[in-house]
Amino acid sequence: MNKEDPIGIFDSGIGGLTVANAVSKQLPNEQIIYFGDTTHLPYGDKSTEAIQHYSLHIADFLLGKRCKLILIACNTASAAAFDIVKTHIGDKVPVMNVIDPVVEAVAANTSINKIGIIGTKGTIKSGVYEHKLKTLRPDLESVSLATALLASMIEAGFYNNSVSQAVINSYLAYPDFSDIDGMILACTHYPLIEKEISSYFNHHVKIFESTNIVATRVKEKLAELNIMNDERRNTHHFFVSDFTESFEQTTKLFFQEKIHLEHFGIWDE
Ligand code: DGL
Repeated sequence: MNKEDPIGIFDSGIGGLTVANAVSKQLPNEQIIYFGDTTHLPYGDKSTEAIQHYSLHIADFLLGKRCKLILIACNTASAAAFDIVKTHIGDKVPVMNVIDPVVEAVAANTSINKIGIIGTKGTIKSGVYEHKLKTLRPDLESVSLATALLASMIEAGFYNNSVSQAVINSYLAYPDFSDIDGMILACTHYPLIEKEISSYFNHHVKIFESTNIVATRVKEKLAELNIMNDERRNTHHFFVSDFTESFEQTTKLFFQEKIHLEHFGIWDE
């Protein structure tokens, strides 16, 4: 692992760009190699075995690009495949996910007694957040709900408008959420609807979204291993397994600027 090597970030598609954006802002000297598995998106409905298979292959691709750290910037893949990817990569490079940093932040916040969790079907069905929270904060009550429509709604550009607010309201009216004091946005698309979620709860519920929490943790990890880049030398690369114009245009929603997507046929061999 060299300081000049890039950070590898992957997701089922383009939602993970919210995390890549936060990493890029907090670590401006780092080069990012991003991989979005647009061939298989959405991961939310896929089996654990399928997501593990995809994730292992993508992790090998990032390792082949000499990445010094691999970040799984997808909650669904973090839930299904973090352990297997970590075991597979061994001590070659550190592997991080978007779940643990958020769980630790929630557990450390002693003013939270009941937390709500929303995410894809895969993430919610795995129970990973509840399980990890129970270990760190046994007294914390958690309630979760799969909000399957939200990721595709956001990708279609529906956020901060009356349609998105109606969909969000109907999910958040879930009775178990009536007395929560915190909410985890357990999907990399959801930072775009953070304001709408917060306003549904009249801003009385603390919202935990992963992007900045995770970027800070990546920064700490690089510092701890003494592999932070001193000087920016190379531009980011954003690869996708299936390229469309529409994906490229949608990147702006998640990365705040339009970026160029490069097609890499990882599944073509
Ligand atoms: N990026 C995924 C996540 O954070 C959501 C989209 C998908 O289902 O692939 O869970």
